[in-house]
Amino acid sequence: MAKSMFADKLKSIDVAVTFRDIILVPGWTEVEPREIDVRTRASKRYKINFPFVSSPMDMVTESEMAIALARQGGLGVLHRNCPVEEQVEMARKVKRAEALVIKDIVTIDPHQSIAYAIELMQKHNISGLPVVDEGKITGILTGRDVRFADTNLSVQDLMTRKVIKAPEGISIEEAKERMHEHRIEKLPIVDEKDHLKGLITIKDILLRGKFPNAARDENGQLLCAAATSPFDLKRARELDKYVDIIVIDVAHFHNSNVFSATKKIMDTVSADVIVGNIGTYKAAEDALTKLDKVAGFRVGIGSGSICTTSEYTKAGAPTLFATANVADAVKDMGADVPIIADGGVRNGGDVAVALAAGASAVMIGNLFARCKEAPGSLIAIGGRYYKQYRGMGSPSAMAKRFSLDRYGASAKGLSEGVEGWVPYKGETGVVVHELAAAVQAAMGYSGAASIPELWQKARFAFLTPSGAAEAGPHDILLPGEAGERV
Ligand code: XMP
Repeated sequence: MAKSMFADKLKSIDVAVTFRDIILVPGWTEVEPREIDVRTRASKRYKINFPFVSSPMDMVTESEMAIALARQGGLGVLHRNCPVEEQVEMARKVKRAEALVIKDIVTIDPHQSIAYAIELMQKHNISGLPVVDEGKITGILTGRDVRFADTNLSVQDLMTRKVIKAPEGISIEEAKERMHEHRIEKLPIVDEKDHLKGLITIKDILLRGKFPNAARDENGQLLCAAATSPFDLKRARELDKYVDIIVIDVAHFHNSNVFSATKKIMDTVSADVIVGNIGTYKAAEDALTKLDKVAGFRVGIGSGSICTTSEYTKAGAPTLFATANVADAVKDMGADVPIIADGGVRNGGDVAVALAAGASAVMIGNLFARCKEAPGSLIAIGGRYYKQYRGMGSPSAMAKRFSLDRYGASAKGLSEGVEGWVPYKGETGVVVHELAAAVQAAMGYSGAASIPELWQKARFAFLTPSGAAEAGPHDILLPGEAGERV
């Protein structure tokens, strides 16, 4: 054994730099913030228009958040702290929220009762049902047809029999014209044998105009990602029927059993597979060497606002440190794999720093848990509103057994997360706009017109503790309570 083996470990120590330690150094710029392009990729194949991804946590991302965030141009990752069927239903909802041509169509048989038709419309929140008999479209039943109807009648008694249809391949412009000409809101798409192949609706066409920045797939459906344990092949397979991206959700991905299990998932699903969490150059290098279908990295261990992992175990890789190291590995290996920096983001400045360190997007729990569309309950404390937020390794989250396997140590009685409340912020769109404005401003200071340019141009400087204090407002009495500025 070398004489100074242990002392050397301390001498050659790495610096685990965090968001709070550094600042972006302003540079020469030729762009105005509003001209700055923040479009990016969440995974190898999927583009998003803003670099924001919501965490797969049960107080952050269910279908409502995933829909809201994708409409704003980001991406939601559905949590897995529930039975497979529940998570799959969430994914289905996101994919059904809008589409150029709906493929997963809710139909009804002409012999069914009106009562059942009403139940179907309510369950799926839709205003009309194509009536299908042995695969062929025979009518259409709308909310208006059933509004004051005798619910014992059958569908064929009230449906409109003369259905205005269109052939496969009709353009959206032509569909719009046809719907306008006949003053209809739903246009069934059929093949030459009148088999129902799709449905175009006015609602979807209007939604495209309302959310021009939305992150959509080639069929105009909102992009959707979902988390799975690496050991839950069944879940991955079921999710794969709906989602674009599967996120392998484990606290420490750099583990041989996790690699083997992930390989099985990669060989089974057609979705892009993002792996994580990792925190080091070596973990990225090993993943890229041993797994040939890595479509993204989720990086950062222990930085999350609800994490106690690093505190209790003294193990961790702060998000910024992890991002820069993984980005170097990806670059050195000549791989084309986007990085999502996960945990610890408090504002748009942190996002810009993570991007500058090589990330393509950031994953956020805390800031999105504050939104209306997050699943946590809203409570009033001292005249202010808060939303519930908790780590997936917190005692109450783990009481729902599904996330137990993310935090392995928890099975031995250690919780790796806390639970509490975060200030209510309103709609997800508000948070996205605030973050985006700050990111664009930061990129403007760095002189970068796009995220790849930021990777090249951004320069960091260390902040001393007094510099960090000076970076926020000081020497002024601010209205309200300290809690307001979080
Ligand atoms: P923020 O800072 O946005 O971080 O709240 C969200 C990220 O934190 C991770 N996460 C946890 N980490 N114990 C941990 O050590 C936990 O209980 C826990 N729950 C979530 C996760 O990576 C998430 O995206």
